[in-house]
Amino acid sequence: MEVSKAIIPAAGLGTRFLPFTKSVPKEMLPLMNRPAIQYSVEEALNSGINQFAIITSKNKQAISDHFDVSRELEFFLKEHNKSDLISSIDHVIRNAHFNYVRQADPSGLGHAIWLARHMIGKEYFSIFLPDEIILGKPPAIDQLIHIARQEKASVVAVQEVPLEDVSRYGIVEVRKQITPNLFQINNLVEKPDQKNAPSNLALIGRYILSHKIFSSLEDISTNGSSEEIQLTDAITHMLRNNEKVFAYKVRGTRYDIGTPLGWLKATIGSALQDPHYRPALKKFIDELENPELASIRPSEFQNEYTE
Ligand code: G1P
Repeated sequence: MEVSKAIIPAAGLGTRFLPFTKSVPKEMLPLMNRPAIQYSVEEALNSGINQFAIITSKNKQAISDHFDVSRELEFFLKEHNKSDLISSIDHVIRNAHFNYVRQADPSGLGHAIWLARHMIGKEYFSIFLPDEIILGKPPAIDQLIHIARQEKASVVAVQEVPLEDVSRYGIVEVRKQITPNLFQINNLVEKPDQKNAPSNLALIGRYILSHKIFSSLEDISTNGSSEEIQLTDAITHMLRNNEKVFAYKVRGTRYDIGTPLGWLKATIGSALQDPHYRPALKKFIDELENPELASIRPSEFQNEYTE
C-alpha cells in the first residue's frame, strides 16, 4: 500500500484564537521560526507523502505564499551568503507538490475533505489537521501508514484524554483491543457529553483513509440534517457499510495550537526539545522561577533598556 497524498484542511475561521485570526490564518502561527502548517507538511514528507491538497478560504493567502518560491528572497539571501535562513522551507518547496482548493462556505470538516476528492484515486490517502502538532520519531503519520498496511484498512490516530475534555473531540467506541496501542473501532461519536462518551480515546487530527470515505461523505450530506458535514460521521458511515477502521495510539508529543494557551505550551515545549533553543530557554525559565539566578544585575538591566 502506497500513501503519497495528503489533504490538509486549512479553511477554518480560527475563532478560538480571535482577534489574532481575524486577518492571519491560525495555520501560520509560528513555532519558533516555522509556521504550524509547515510541521504537518514536513511530517508528511518524512513519511513518503509528497502531494498536498490544501483547503483554504478567504484571508488564507499567506499559506500559499509561504509554499511558493520567492525569487527575490532567494536572490537577496544568496547575495548575502545567508541562504541557510530559508533552507527548511526550500527543502519543502523542492520536494512537495501543492494544490489549493477553496472552500467558499464553512460547511464543516467533512465538506472540506470532500472538496479534494478529484485529487484522490482509488487509493488510501492521509489527512492532517494542521492545528495539531505531533512531534517525535517516527512521524505520527508514518506510524499510521504502517498500521494501514498491516491491516489493509483505514486507521485514525488517537490519544487518551481526560474525561472532562471528551466533548472537544471525536471519540472512539472500541470493538476489540488488538494490542496495547491498536484497537478495532465499532463506532465514533463527534464531541459527546462526558456521560455519553464511549471511551476517552480521542481523534487527534491524523487519518489514513480509504477513498470510500468520499461516497460516505456524499451519503451523509444528502441524508443528514445538520448544516456541517462531519468527517467523523462519514467514518461511522463507512463502519456501518462493513469497512474496517482501526484506531492507533501514536507515540509522540502532541500539541493543539488552536488556542492561545495551547500555542504557548507548543512553543515552549517544542523549543525545549530543540537543541538550538533549549539551553537559553531553560536558563530563562530557571531565572523566572529563581530570580536570584538572573545573570543581569540591575545596573546592566538599565543599560540594556536605555540604549
Ligand atoms: C476536529 C474533529 C474531531 C477531532 C479534532 C481534533 O474537531 O472533528 O473529531 O477530535 O478535530 O483536533 P475541531 O477541533 O475541528 O472542532
